[in-house]
Amino acid sequence: MESCRRILLVGFMGSGKSTVGSLLAARLGWAFFDFDAEIERHAGLSVEEIFRTLGEAHFRDLEARVGRTLLETDRAVLASGGGWPAPGRMATLDRDTLSVWLGVSPETALARTRLDGRARPLLQGADGLAKARRLLSARASSYGRAHLHLDTEATSPEELAERIHEHLEAADRNLSKR
Ligand code: S3P
Repeated sequence: MESCRRILLVGFMGSGKSTVGSLLAARLGWAFFDFDAEIERHAGLSVEEIFRTLGEAHFRDLEARVGRTLLETDRAVLASGGGWPAPGRMATLDRDTLSVWLGVSPETALARTRLDGRARPLLQGADGLAKARRLLSARASSYGRAHLHLDTEATSPEELAERIHEHLEAADRNLSKR
């Protein structure tokens, strides 16, 4: 890739994109932006309220718009929402964006999202695990287009941030040798 100007974290709900993203941004001295937080700021509503009162299609429009703006930011770590990559968006990323897939099982995703205090409209109800399995399998090929894949089941957020940082430094070293 060209010299990296931004890092985009993708992955399922509960994969740790926001936690890892803010740790990584702090290490790099870069800004951190979370797609959902920016959507909430623009809309003046929580993601849960947007889904409930305006519908998922409206949320997806906002997400697409916010994503386009954030993906033009330099020296930034970005945490996308879990659904952002799925409609073929990974292929639209600029060459100077390093993409990282944080992998998580549906079971762990469900457990983490039930603890983190942020409502996930798509995983509500007694059949949350079945929903997580279905969504994750539909999205895996999109997530899989990321440059770097890291499993989050047995690795701490700090270590994940360190691995991404190391990957970036190695890529920069290779570029400067050319
Ligand atoms: C969604 C993921 C959520 C949020 C919304 C929809 C999805 O973000 O954007 O609830 O479709 O996977 P996180 O991945 O940050 O939980």
